[in-house]
Amino acid sequence: MALIDDTVAIILAAGKNKRMKTNLPKAMHKVGGVPMIGLIRDALDQIGVKRRVVTVGFGAEYITGYFGDWAEYAYQHDQKGTGHALLTALDYLGDYSGRVLVLYGDMPLIRPDTLTALIGQHMESGAQGTLAYADLRVQNEYGRIIRNAGGDFTKIVEMKDASEEEALITEVNIGLYCFDAAAARSALGRLTTDNAQGEMYLTDVFAEILAEGGRVGLYQVADDRECLGANDRAELAELNRALYRDKCAELMLESGVTIIDPDAVYIDRNVVVGMDTVIYPGCVIEGRTVIGENCEIGPNTRIRDSHIGDRTKVEYSVVQEASTGDDVSVGPFANLRPGTSIGGKSRIGDFVEIKNSVVGEDVRISHLAYIGDADVGSNVNIGCGAITCNYDGKQKHRTVIGANAFIGSNANLVAPVTVNENAYVASGSTVTFDVPDNALAIARERQVNIENWVLRKGLGRG
Ligand code: UD1
Ligand code: MG
Repeated sequence: MALIDDTVAIILAAGKNKRMKTNLPKAMHKVGGVPMIGLIRDALDQIGVKRRVVTVGFGAEYITGYFGDWAEYAYQHDQKGTGHALLTALDYLGDYSGRVLVLYGDMPLIRPDTLTALIGQHMESGAQGTLAYADLRVQNEYGRIIRNAGGDFTKIVEMKDASEEEALITEVNIGLYCFDAAAARSALGRLTTDNAQGEMYLTDVFAEILAEGGRVGLYQVADDRECLGANDRAELAELNRALYRDKCAELMLESGVTIIDPDAVYIDRNVVVGMDTVIYPGCVIEGRTVIGENCEIGPNTRIRDSHIGDRTKVEYSVVQEASTGDDVSVGPFANLRPGTSIGGKSRIGDFVEIKNSVVGEDVRISHLAYIGDADVGSNVNIGCGAITCNYDGKQKHRTVIGANAFIGSNANLVAPVTVNENAYVASGSTVTFDVPDNALAIARERQVNIENWVLRKGLGRG
């Protein structure tokens, strides 16, 4: 679309975050599991903007690290206000005189169709600057849209500078604009810092455009929720809540997932869940997690960047960067750490920790075990209290357990070591060298019964 192709997007994200009280740029704070600025990127990608400039300053490296070469960067070394931030971006663009779409890094719910509609209106109207506004009936700190007696826009007044009367105005500036770059540049050149915050307000550009005989357009956003932004932690929590609710609604209504209590789960925006899966309260499901159909997840489970097969149950457990096949049972109280994959039909029970291991199908590790850096074949049984000793103080080593092997309770497998197929390891054994196929390894003191020892010692207890 020519409309979009000829538009440069500018995201302002250099601010000092006084209200957020943080060392991280405000725009990098996550909502629904994604940095706010990441949601803005998604919206811009959806409309297909080709050139993106981000004004960075405070904590610039976090943003450049996150976006990489998705964006170009204009450095605003002293953060002198949003007007100065836009000027910095326009300076970076040199003599570019086309259209710019300007977004704030702390307003992440702007919808792609709002962006295209704003740009479209700006183009058709012939205005030099167009601003998006909302008519908000709830208390807020946004800049007020001031109109004259005839109802025409005259200026924006920031809340900190507003009179009591102006503060009552419900039409507010949400911080999304479209400008002709040349007009914005010339208006910015005349801005002062004569206001409550001693800053160069981008919002003053509109009155300047009018003063120069130009035209200003106003575009009302369709959905008040687009106005949700986060200047501080309380607003961040509200935004998070809104996004988590949205995600639950999407999973319930579009994917056919049962969520027992949408107020008691936190599911990141990019998570995928299959039909007829039930999610119980207390679940935190993060990152790029994909959960299959007919699963039972929770209560009280954290799953991050993992893949869970169909008909799998995970309760009271933590699963991170791991995967399970179908018909698996995990927990209660299991910990699947990064690099773990569990084959179909396996059962990982309570207080079992598995790390960087490939576990085959139909394996039972039912209680109190540690499996680290291991390859476990199918149909293996690992008894209660069995562990792999994978770390020698300097290096990690692998343990290999062949198909159909049986590891007795409380066995220690000292890696590197292989227990071959169909072999047994006796309970309580400490295995330090390989066990052949079909063999039984016993590596423990033989039991001795000393007859009448209790009587001789006079230790009888009744
Ligand atoms: C701004 C608007 C206000 C509007 C509100 C909507 C101004 C003066 N006010 O207020 O009318 O209702 O947004 O969300 O614009 N930034 C820089 N460099 C700076 C200062 C800010 O890059 O020197 C960036 C910030 O990192 C942030 C964005 O600009 O991403 C907006 O700044 P912020 O301080 O949040 O403005 P508000 O006070 O919310
Ligand atoms: Mg803000």
